[in-house]
Amino acid sequence: MNRNLAMEFVRVTEMAAIASARWMGRGDEKAADQAAVDAMRSMLDTIDCKGTVVIGEGERDEAPMLYIGEKVGSGNGPALDIALDPLEGTTVCAQGASNSISVMAIAEEGGFLNAPDTYMQKIAVGPVGRGLIDIRETPQENLRRLADAKKCKMAELTVCILDRPRHEGIINEVREAGARIKLIGDGDVAASLACCEPYSGVDMLIGTGGAPEGVISAAALRCMGGDFQGVLKFRSDEEIGRAKKMGITDLDKIYAIDELANGNVMFVATGVTTGTFLDGVRFRPQGAVTKSIVMRSQSGTIRRIEADHHFDTKPRY
Ligand code: FBP
Repeated sequence: MNRNLAMEFVRVTEMAAIASARWMGRGDEKAADQAAVDAMRSMLDTIDCKGTVVIGEGERDEAPMLYIGEKVGSGNGPALDIALDPLEGTTVCAQGASNSISVMAIAEEGGFLNAPDTYMQKIAVGPVGRGLIDIRETPQENLRRLADAKKCKMAELTVCILDRPRHEGIINEVREAGARIKLIGDGDVAASLACCEPYSGVDMLIGTGGAPEGVISAAALRCMGGDFQGVLKFRSDEEIGRAKKMGITDLDKIYAIDELANGNVMFVATGVTTGTFLDGVRFRPQGAVTKSIVMRSQSGTIRRIEADHHFDTKPRY
């Protein structure tokens, strides 16, 4: 994959972030998401590639744009698989809360698990915990391993968990283990990224969230040297049927990070609302400032890009 492509793709998340940030705090999740989808869709076609959406807004019959299997890009250039979420954290954006991002991961054809739109049990850590985690173990055991590797006390580790009733058990287990907890309303992709940032205040993500978000997080952690494991969690027979159609035969499989995102991958994300990992869009007269991250697994280089956009010279925005 041409490394310059990563810089092309960040334009796409910048544009989607600006479009959805206009809906911040306005209580309209659908409008915020639609703005991001429209912007991402139109910008994608300016990029020279033969892209296929493999993780997107849903199945063809339920999503008019950026659906799974949709062809994107100019049609010239390399064949790529694209995992995207134009607005990850629609609710937090609509509420004006923190940690919504616009995000895309890119791989060579066949590089991503074609995950159905179901749940995934996840565990994520940064580079220090790489190779040490085991999703079959208790939170306490995984935390003990991470504390040993980080040479710190359990009480100095913070676990990020989606604030959901289904997580009551693991919240209790983490508390009994003596670690700290950061409960988040939404946005476990941003939380996975935060595990890799030494001063983010997040050491581990555990719990069950969206499977598509799991694949996107795995791509990011591949680039950052972190680790991730996931197990699909189906909510209905219909979801199991969809998974089987997508070629998934072992429904209880534990997916390692490179079984979710394999080969050379790229990851780009732009902050929509300010979060632990990325600042959100800040509007100014006739323009906006965005903060993005651009990464490639091949080089491991992590670029943080602050872009000052001028709406008068770039009417597209
Ligand atoms: P959306 O951007 O699709 O709203 O997803 C937000 C999110 O919080 C994800 O980060 C997370 O993986 C998933 O939803 C959790 O699902 P649920 O809200 O059903 O618990």
